[in-house]
Amino acid sequence: WAIYAPYVAAINQLKKDRNAVILAHNYMTPEIYHGIADVVGDSLQLAIEATKVKADVIVQCGVHFMAETSKILNPAKTVLIPDMEAGCSLAESITAEGIAEMRAKYPGAPVVTYVNTTAEVKAASDICCTSSNAVQIVRGMDSDTVIMTPDKYLAQNIVNLVPEKNIVWWDGACIVHEQYTAQDLRDFREWNPGTRIIAHPECPPDVVVEADFSGSTSGIIDYVTQQRPEKAMLVTECSMASNISDALPDVDFVGPCNMCPYMKKITLEKVLWSLHTMQGAVEVDPEVAAKARVAVQRMIDLSA
Ligand code: 13P
Ligand code: SF4
Repeated sequence: WAIYAPYVAAINQLKKDRNAVILAHNYMTPEIYHGIADVVGDSLQLAIEATKVKADVIVQCGVHFMAETSKILNPAKTVLIPDMEAGCSLAESITAEGIAEMRAKYPGAPVVTYVNTTAEVKAASDICCTSSNAVQIVRGMDSDTVIMTPDKYLAQNIVNLVPEKNIVWWDGACIVHEQYTAQDLRDFREWNPGTRIIAHPECPPDVVVEADFSGSTSGIIDYVTQQRPEKAMLVTECSMASNISDALPDVDFVGPCNMCPYMKKITLEKVLWSLHTMQGAVEVDPEVAAKARVAVQRMIDLSA
């Protein structure tokens, strides 16, 4: 922590000078999560928090689509992303043309789009979802066939939970979660009996079936905090266990994890630089933002 302290102090001072708040995703490193964040959460919680920000500036410690979502929901604010290259393999997997292609293939079916997408893709969709409300949103669609984009694994996991719908999907995946296999989990259980295995729904469905629980990043944190298993394997991004392990000394976090190279682009140095220079403001074309806002707001209203 000693090497981080000067950055943390400088950033916290600059937040006051700029009237800024930091919204940080659960995958941020501990020095960001514990040192400088004003709000931490999963993508749905951060989107909802963005609507409530009164400060002039939002610094989004997360990936680009999260910063865009904040800008869409609270357009009067300056939204900074400390590294414009902090993308997402899911957001890169589809464009608005892809949405049009799916609509042509399944006429009349509503498009439920994961928030891990660009503003243009959200604008072309009927409603958004996150991993914490996808079941609710898909169930709420007034149609037997529902198009889910762009995460094929999230869609396949929802098929298991909402069998009454005919769910069709785009062929995107998260490069962090697609790497886990059901065999990895079975092997791990054999070597470490008694381990509670908790997987994010961006994992392939056979991985999720093998796990004891599946939920959004905040759902995972709540589960471990309430259940207090002796040993827990978080089948998700590495910072999750690092961020909560100090508060849960009775839980032994075991097993491998995968790093998100996009999330890890956000560092204390870059946060300091963005607040100092006010560079890295995210802009969304107002027409696109207005349409995307409808899809995101519909999601927020339906998940309330
Ligand atoms: P959550 O909504 O669960 O925080 O997921 C965001 C994400 O990018 C997971 O890979
Ligand atoms: Fe995108 Fe996966 Fe990284 Fe989340 S973990 S930001 S879904 S690449």
